[in-house]
Amino acid sequence: MSVLEFPKDFLWGYATAAYQIEGSVAEDGKGESIWDRFTHTPGKILDGKNGDITCDHYHLYEEDVRIMKELGTKSYRFSLSWPRIIPGGKGQMNQKGVDFYKRLLTSLHENGIVPAVTLYHWDLPQKLQDIGGWANRDTALYYVEYCVKMYQQLGDLIPIWITHNEPWCVSFLSNWLGVHAPGNKDFKTAVQVSYNILYSHGLAVRAFRDSGRKGEIGITMNFTQIYPASEKEEDIKAARRYDGYYNRWFLDPVLKGSYPADMSEHYQSRGLLPEMSDQDLELMSQPLDFLGVNYYTSNLIKHDLSQQPLETSVVSRKLPVTSCGWEVHPEGMYDLLVRIRRDYGDIKIMITENGAAYEDTVSESGEVNDPARIDYLQKHYVQTHRAIKDGVNITGYYVWSYCDNFEWAEGFTKRFGLVYVDYPTRKRIVKSSGRWFRDVMIRNAVEL
Ligand code: FCB
Repeated sequence: MSVLEFPKDFLWGYATAAYQIEGSVAEDGKGESIWDRFTHTPGKILDGKNGDITCDHYHLYEEDVRIMKELGTKSYRFSLSWPRIIPGGKGQMNQKGVDFYKRLLTSLHENGIVPAVTLYHWDLPQKLQDIGGWANRDTALYYVEYCVKMYQQLGDLIPIWITHNEPWCVSFLSNWLGVHAPGNKDFKTAVQVSYNILYSHGLAVRAFRDSGRKGEIGITMNFTQIYPASEKEEDIKAARRYDGYYNRWFLDPVLKGSYPADMSEHYQSRGLLPEMSDQDLELMSQPLDFLGVNYYTSNLIKHDLSQQPLETSVVSRKLPVTSCGWEVHPEGMYDLLVRIRRDYGDIKIMITENGAAYEDTVSESGEVNDPARIDYLQKHYVQTHRAIKDGVNITGYYVWSYCDNFEWAEGFTKRFGLVYVDYPTRKRIVKSSGRWFRDVMIRNAVEL
């Protein structure tokens, strides 16, 4: 048996997001979010369900913190719900919403768990969607007003800040593919949103530095490592284009201060490019304390003229898949991490999400055994360790997710947790993966 040890002070932990676990969507003055609206629109969610109650974390947060502590958790990544704090998106703050997060943060500190807080994990106040949402540049201004309030109200309790979660999803999945709220299906809108999101990120980072608060700030992006489907020139170019659309479109402006020329040309020639300015790019590319990397899978890409405007499509490799249908490819994570360092320099990286959905069931004796998830996680830790050994500066890893929760357009059909949730009773059952991960966190090492 061999043992892979991780660097001292490696930050192991769990990740969640407000809409997916809190419930209480109209309690204590919370305003409506685009996810409240979307999930209550027939036909949008696979099982027709919504996040009105979900894990009831709003009421059960103390139990959740206790379980996390028992599980050896070093850090907990969660998000603040903007409409819980500013119900109308701008203006009046709802003190009861802020107080909930103060209680949660205090409880985490009392239990020795380091909070890592995402300012925006997709639950835009509906009132702002009514005036254009992220396609409206003013939303960035309202967002930074909200961020500044959070720095003031919660700054003493939060050492790690994340401006945005997965700008690709906020832009393309939500505004081109129409899968997530607000459900638009327009490529040009999606590109505009991608620009405004990074602009708002820049404003939030600048405001954080100006606030003089101690602590670190970064952004979390979701990546898929891309491989061409064949040696053919057109597939190699297609893979490069897909990488440009999915990865470089977000990495380049933030870490290099420019948009990738090949993609700008591709969009420009199709009338899809928004107006851009050097000033905005300067804002977007301010130095960050870390880059948050979410990795679940990689993709094989081929040229496909029928798929506009990207002219690419994904080819199956017939690898094992999780219950989301995502191919399991841990080596892709290594390739991605090494590539980020190669192309973007020695930025500190935190893996802010990685994990797998499988169809878990409770045994007669009340246990949940999930060896496939343990296998998935272990293989990804091996690749993380390999990347660290090869010089990538990775300082933390958060598994998605602490508990089963509302998986967006998939409703409750996908279970990602290391803690099982019986939704009718809200009872939590630690899965075998939770016990396994506890050992990893406590020993700061993975056994093979
Ligand atoms: C990511 C999201 C997270 C969760 C996982 C499975 O894209 O950030 O909220 O849904 O996927």
